[in-house]
Amino acid sequence: MDLLRTRMDKVRHKIAVISGKGGVGKTLVTVNLAVALAVRGRNGRVGILDADIHGPCVPKMLGLKGSRLMSGPPGVFPALGPLNIKVVSMDFLLPSDDAPVIWRGPLKMGAIRQFLSEIAWGDLEYLLIDLPPGTGDEALSVLQLLPEMDGVVIVTIPSEVSQDVVKKAVTFARKMEAPVIGIVENMSGLICPHCGERIDVFSSGGGEKIAAEMEVPFLGSIPLDPRISKDSDAGVPFIVEHRDSPAAKSFDAIVEKIEKFVERR
Ligand SMILES: Nc1ncnc2c1ncn2[C@@H]1O[C@H](COP(=O)(O)OP(=O)(O)OP(=O)(O)O)[C@@H](O)[C@H]1O
Ligand SMILES: [Mg+2]
Repeated sequence: MDLLRTRMDKVRHKIAVISGKGGVGKTLVTVNLAVALAVRGRNGRVGILDADIHGPCVPKMLGLKGSRLMSGPPGVFPALGPLNIKVVSMDFLLPSDDAPVIWRGPLKMGAIRQFLSEIAWGDLEYLLIDLPPGTGDEALSVLQLLPEMDGVVIVTIPSEVSQDVVKKAVTFARKMEAPVIGIVENMSGLICPHCGERIDVFSSGGGEKIAAEMEVPFLGSIPLDPRISKDSDAGVPFIVEHRDSPAAKSFDAIVEKIEKFVERR
């Protein structure tokens, strides 16, 4: 535990990205927020802990598939992604892509504890933690191991099905005494590339509505964009490739709100 504290004391801000439902874009949001933070003068001072033990996807989205963790005297070194983002993921430890991790809660907590304590994270300004969906073992472990967490960012899509479970994520954060930085609405409308009309694939305005209902800040919305999915599959950060896209501008605005939130604390 002491080693964990020594390492984590050198990380200024810690933010977990959570959701109620799966597949709403947590990993996409984590990766692009990390890039947006790093672009703003923090090259080498942003890290991502991929705490999705069963379905780690951060390496794929950052072009780090196949990386392995090297160790040296201060500990195990994180892999380095674009803008020297420091990345640690279960994916780096698995023998092959189809190898599953079949672990119960205590083992997963042990792995997360080791990721926080044995990795030589160094001095970081931001550590973002990408979690699997819901309020299970991994989310619980992260919030228990890092009670000093600056807060959580909750990702949702506009549909009512997702809204219902977002409330659970907000309540979970409150129970764990982790501040809610705010809600991000992802997959928020699609602009038809042919006619330019907006199609609300998953309905609209749900994120803002639920934020008001639960009395937490609304951070912004990110549209559906086929290029986002293509870039994440190719392992290139979308917001660097498409600086002028509405999604990139949205990420910038969200990051500004996050910076303000953590500075106020
Ligand atoms: N706004 C978007 N436009 C287009 N594709 C998107 C968008 N957001 C996410 N995606 C794609 O949708 C898929 C799911 O996203 P992602 O893996 O980030 O979800 P998740 O919430 O982390 O899933 P899980 O619950 O399994 O961890 C990915 O292929 C991602 O590239
Ligand atoms: Mg994910």
